[in-house]
Amino acid sequence: MLNYRNGLDEMPSYDGVEKNYRVKVNANESTLSLPPAVEERVMNRLALLALNRYPNEEYYSLVKQIAQNFSVDAAQILLGGGSSEIIEKVFHAFGGAGRKIVYPQPSFSMYKIYAKAADADGVPFDLGRRFDLDADAFIEKIRSVDASLAVVCNPNNPTGNALTPEQVEHIAASINCPFLLDEAYVEFYGRSAVALVAQYPNLIVARTFSKAYGLAGARVGYMIAQAEVTRMINKTFMPYHLNVLSLAVADVVYQMREEFIPRMKMIIDERERMRARLKALPGVKVFPSEANFLLIRLARAEELKDYLESLGIGIRYFSPTAFGLKNCLRISIGTRDENNEVFAAIENFLEVGAT
Ligand SMILES: Cc1ncc(COP(=O)(O)O)c(C=O)c1O
Repeated sequence: MLNYRNGLDEMPSYDGVEKNYRVKVNANESTLSLPPAVEERVMNRLALLALNRYPNEEYYSLVKQIAQNFSVDAAQILLGGGSSEIIEKVFHAFGGAGRKIVYPQPSFSMYKIYAKAADADGVPFDLGRRFDLDADAFIEKIRSVDASLAVVCNPNNPTGNALTPEQVEHIAASINCPFLLDEAYVEFYGRSAVALVAQYPNLIVARTFSKAYGLAGARVGYMIAQAEVTRMINKTFMPYHLNVLSLAVADVVYQMREEFIPRMKMIIDERERMRARLKALPGVKVFPSEANFLLIRLARAEELKDYLESLGIGIRYFSPTAFGLKNCLRISIGTRDENNEVFAAIENFLEVGAT
């Protein structure tokens, strides 16, 4: 019997099941590969990399670009292996035995796991019936448990709804503990709270290249906070935790970020088109979304998931025990053709398609 660290055995695992789907709309990735002009520049850049050197230059080149874009100091930025690494490190920095980390539920399932990994107590705060977050009740909860960290995903995964920057500011201003705002999907919403970082020393914003910039495979994310906060959180990272290949790809992508705007717009338009079509189906509830996915609820959700899988279409189904998500399915928005195929399959399943 190997003697693992206390509690590791009870640690929950990430429950996303990955298969080789023909139409993959289960993980909120970008369905498109890089725009051709970006891909060409990426390939040229990769050919010139010094793989024998530790990745200093590439790290700071990307940091500088991000800092410039947000008009903040480079010392306010940290990069991570996806925003996952950022979030995990922030939990680590503010966690510890007996400390409380408050996050809404349902939300990103990893918060619970990161809290546990940080030896802290995860304290879920229940969203309302329509997945709305009552900011004052959330603040009250944070205060009442004397939280060491509060976390909000905005727009929220998997529900898709979002707090306004004013609501975010109200929370930041009303709590004494650090406030991690996970903006993984914010490009599809357009209302980031990064500008509030200057005013609120407790605010930490996590962002990613995985969604709107289609780099889920490269694993690059970043955080923006006041310099004193990044200085402390930086202590939790290994040296050179990002590899030079990913950094160089993200650096080029960020330089050419304008190239991604039309596809972000396409996803938003497609989301609204799909929302309208799904809403018209009998027995299907579609929740409003500011992200690159839609959450729906219908009576035979698990059966529909199985049916779509049988057609090679992967969507996200939630365990019936997941808080608030009974009979819910999350569908990432793909290309127009992919969305049409997903819709036709759902229509067919419900037997309301044209005959
Ligand atoms: C809300 C949220 N935050 C963070 C992540 C992590 O993404 P990544 O590590 O690829 O940046 C995800 C991934 O799905 C997510 O949904």
